[in-house]
Amino acid sequence: MKKFFEKCYKITKVYGLTVAGAVAVVGIIIYDRARQQPVYSSWTTNYDPSVKWDYNWDRRQPDNLVKPLKESATDEEKLKHLEKEEQNVSKATRHIIMIRHGQYFDTEKLDKDRKLTELGREQANMVGKRLAELNYPYTQLICSTMTRARETADIIHKHLPDLERKETDLLREGAPIPPEPPSGNWKPEAEFYSDGARIEAAFRKFFYRAGADQVNDSYEIMVCHANVIRYFVCRALQFPPEAWLRISLNHASITWVYIRPNGRVGIRTLGEAGFMPAKKVSVL
Ligand SMILES: *[C@@H]1O[C@H](CO)[C@@H](O)[C@H](O)[C@H]1NC(C)=O
Ligand SMILES: *[C@@H]1O[C@H](CO)[C@@H](O)[C@H](O)[C@H]1NC(C)=O
Repeated sequence: MKKFFEKCYKITKVYGLTVAGAVAVVGIIIYDRARQQPVYSSWTTNYDPSVKWDYNWDRRQPDNLVKPLKESATDEEKLKHLEKEEQNVSKATRHIIMIRHGQYFDTEKLDKDRKLTELGREQANMVGKRLAELNYPYTQLICSTMTRARETADIIHKHLPDLERKETDLLREGAPIPPEPPSGNWKPEAEFYSDGARIEAAFRKFFYRAGADQVNDSYEIMVCHANVIRYFVCRALQFPPEAWLRISLNHASITWVYIRPNGRVGIRTLGEAGFMPAKKVSVL
């Protein structure tokens, strides 16, 4: 036993210095790296984000709007090209304020019978009042052609009578994309196949940065449906679109998306219904 300890002591004496040296070197390397890198929260491992923001999501980055230069372009042509790009730079923010319709008779079969309930009409009235009180310079009111959306839009319109009111089939309710995780309720794939393309078309029609000719920020009110709004939110924020069913929206709630001139997008509210008394809030 004594021999063993003597051996250990010898080894420590010989290698101790080497080990201490190695520890010091590693320490210096770690310290130096830490000095060069920003400090992240302890749970953050993604120095390189797993998914990068696509600034050209709407295909309206200025350099995407101007005809590309030929390789043989002269300096003069290059200068002209830059000028054209500059003329295409967006300057204003577009706010898209999406309102889900109020509560309705969802057990009826025909759309014309799927009208707002008494509570649904009250909810529409409260959101109309809220929008009027917020008093933004609204630019238009557009709604889906389904009965419950039309009725909700009509009630909102009473609070903002000067606003131009439009309708479109593109915003009708539907099945945007098979949800992940699956909902458990089976739906024929054909529904996703046709509705999905139409709802995506609606997204491309209404979501884009302001054109270079738009001088003021715009505030558009869009009255439509929970699936459509949830899909738009996922697409606008560049989240996986199949995540739409993980979101739940109150009746006559406000979901507010803003699109910045540089192609950044954010939401200000999601399914907000805090302006209603608690007993008036409903989802189904
Ligand atoms: C881009 O700028 C040109 C003028 O150079 C203009 O005619 C065109 O409409 C602009 N495009 C957009 C999408 O603003
Ligand atoms: C932009 O906003 C200003 C200030 O509110 C207003 O005077 C002007 O008429 C607006 N321009 C357009 C094109 O709406």
